[in-house]
Amino acid sequence: MAFRLDTLWSKITLVCLLPLLWVIIDITFDNLGPDPIQTLHIRLGDWAMRFLWLTLLVTPVQTITKWPGMADYRQMLGLYAFFYATLHVIVYLLVDHGLMWQIIAVDILESSYIWFGLIAYLIIIALAISSPKWAKKRMGKQWKKLHRLIYIASLAVIIHYYWQLKGNMAEPLFYLIIIILLLAFRVAVWFKNRKFIKMMIPTTRRIKVVSVVKALNPELSIDLQGPVIKELIIQEVEPD
Ligand code: HEM
Repeated sequence: MAFRLDTLWSKITLVCLLPLLWVIIDITFDNLGPDPIQTLHIRLGDWAMRFLWLTLLVTPVQTITKWPGMADYRQMLGLYAFFYATLHVIVYLLVDHGLMWQIIAVDILESSYIWFGLIAYLIIIALAISSPKWAKKRMGKQWKKLHRLIYIASLAVIIHYYWQLKGNMAEPLFYLIIIILLLAFRVAVWFKNRKFIKMMIPTTRRIKVVSVVKALNPELSIDLQGPVIKELIIQEVEPD
């Protein structure tokens, strides 16, 4: 498939790669400040987190705009979260610790905030591997269950982020507000759907009863709220 620059898809792809380009330029021109490894680490971690928030933003936007094609963008943004998180982890393992596994193990054991980064990363890996359409088809209902773990990953990332913070709290506070709003939206939709399903149950039952009665006597005209139906429903709920 040819890469065409005039599609929204390719434009978003290029925009998502800009933070990486910016990092490469800063490395090339030695522009990463007095502690380049830490700056690199922080920049990649920040972008992984921002893409995770953008991924979570897709469903509310889709619910509000009713644009079905948004699911593809959710997958793309999720994969970018995985991509930047992987670079963040590579910098930690390779650049920061030179793949010295004993030192890495001690660091992980001593720094509780890294456990949460690790939990988040393991979940993000599972979500990225299972993100292609064929995997979704193959996994059926399990796919949705697995992909709900994105909320656990988000909470783990928030803890990972806040636990090691130092200095200016303006940006972290902004992220916290965004993530609370995103999660609140999901909870509200969940409650609304549950209420809706509960409201649906009596109606479905009534319709089933009507179809049974109609099947027995097709000429019978039935009022849904009428006494015959109410009686049948009572009999169905409380059999004597
Ligand atoms: C095995 C997994 C991970 C390890 C070992 C790890 C390690 C670290 C370390 C050592 C720091 C402190 C950087 C410093 O101040 O020098 C850090 C910060 C951070 N990490 Fe991770 N991390 C992991 C996973 C993740 C994931 C999955 C995300 C996001 C999706 C993430 C996002 C961040 C963010 C946003 C920061 C703070 C940057 C800032 O101060 O602005 N990390 N991580």
